[in-house]
Amino acid sequence: MVRRPALVAGTLLLVTGCAGQVAVQEFPVVGATGIGDDYYPGDGNGGYDVERYDLDVGYDPVTDELTGTALVTADTTGAPLRGFSLDLVGLEVSSVQVDGSEVTTTRDGDELVVDPGQVVVDGRFTVQVEYAGVPEPVRDGPGTSGVVPTSDGVLVVGQPDVAATWFPVNDHPRDAAAVQLSVTVPEDLVAVSNGTLVDRGDPVDGERTWVWRSDEPMAPYLLTLAVGDYDLTEREVDGITYRDAVATGLSDRRAGNARAALERQPEVVDFLAGVFGSPYPFTECGAIVTDSSLGFALETQTRPIYASDFFGSATGAELVVVHELAHQWTGDDLRLDRWSDIWLNEGFATYAEWAWTEAQGGETVADQLAAVLEQPADDPFWDQAIGDPGPATDDLFSGAVYVRGAATLAALRAEVGDEAFDELLSRWTTDRAGQAVTTPEFADLAAEVTGTDLTGFFDEWLGAGKPA
Ligand code: ARG
Ligand code: ZN
Repeated sequence: MVRRPALVAGTLLLVTGCAGQVAVQEFPVVGATGIGDDYYPGDGNGGYDVERYDLDVGYDPVTDELTGTALVTADTTGAPLRGFSLDLVGLEVSSVQVDGSEVTTTRDGDELVVDPGQVVVDGRFTVQVEYAGVPEPVRDGPGTSGVVPTSDGVLVVGQPDVAATWFPVNDHPRDAAAVQLSVTVPEDLVAVSNGTLVDRGDPVDGERTWVWRSDEPMAPYLLTLAVGDYDLTEREVDGITYRDAVATGLSDRRAGNARAALERQPEVVDFLAGVFGSPYPFTECGAIVTDSSLGFALETQTRPIYASDFFGSATGAELVVVHELAHQWTGDDLRLDRWSDIWLNEGFATYAEWAWTEAQGGETVADQLAAVLEQPADDPFWDQAIGDPGPATDDLFSGAVYVRGAATLAALRAEVGDEAFDELLSRWTTDRAGQAVTTPEFADLAAEVTGTDLTGFFDEWLGAGKPA
């Protein structure tokens, strides 16, 4: 893909007026076409930060066509911008307005570039984009993800890339934003997304508009959508609203395992609040259980989405729910500042599974750690540096990232003791709530909480090779 060179924001000092009066003005610049993540140089953009997305989309399950209007409200983060870009993969753009004025744009690979020199934005600004088309699938290891058509509707699920395949976006977890999604689909289908259900609309001309809203900022890839035949239920427990959507087409066995696991969500949330030492970060919760075999589940904020594959057994069902709900703390509320730190998501969520298993009277965390350490040093399992696993999805989400990531935490707990470990997780999820985080920040906090230099520990556990 061709990328424009990143232009660095510059400051020009303009000294004007009579003696004593100095006005400092910044020279307008063109925002970079990437946010600056080495793994995915084109993801995200420079020069602004999105405050909210108001998306109004229609989906036709017969043609798979998406039509949308996206209103992006953002703030410049440095110098005023005389040009900038959004991420958008494929799709036809018919109109773009910046602060209400029509502008011309250029498509350059996966960038939608607002041609420089038409407007200058400084502080809060809006971009409204009208677009349509059939979203391109995302290549993901051996399969595909992204906007995935199903027999009766569609699923939107992917990591790290999905958002830009269905709306113009600053597509990097570093830039979380509030979202309102209005989605119009045939009236006999259910449309489920994150957050709270604002409106399920009345049928008009055979269609219905569902409105979902997430006020707590979320990373763009965490926005999901499932359209199809779902049984949607709602209940409130301890001030948290649980909305579960279970595909009606599931086999009885899978549906039974799913229902039993979802029933336990409040208990899981309670348990995880104990593990992380901080309350559940949101007021909405729940699940989308699809009848599609995507091969993975995703921690879509407040409402994880699950492939049917996970519900073959009762224990498998329970563990995947524990895993995805754990991500609500580590992955969603605390989000990645750069994708190379993925173990901060997957290692922590897997550790939570281990802790749950122990609490249920199963294998202890110590035993799980011991089992990992039984892998011989020449096993390829130890080859990857899990603290810098590489950008291919197979590497980013390798078994080693999950299991050795969890083992890193289990080993840390053994090293520093339960009390210091609990304090560390509690400080991590409390002090850094709602922020983008990095591995060095976690290591620094660990050193602060324990009063020990743990640089060697993390280098050994997150690097390639079996720890001594
Ligand atoms: N974060 C997801 C989970 O652990 C897995 C996502 C796998 N992603 C992928 N692109 N294959 O639950
Ligand atoms: Zn995970």
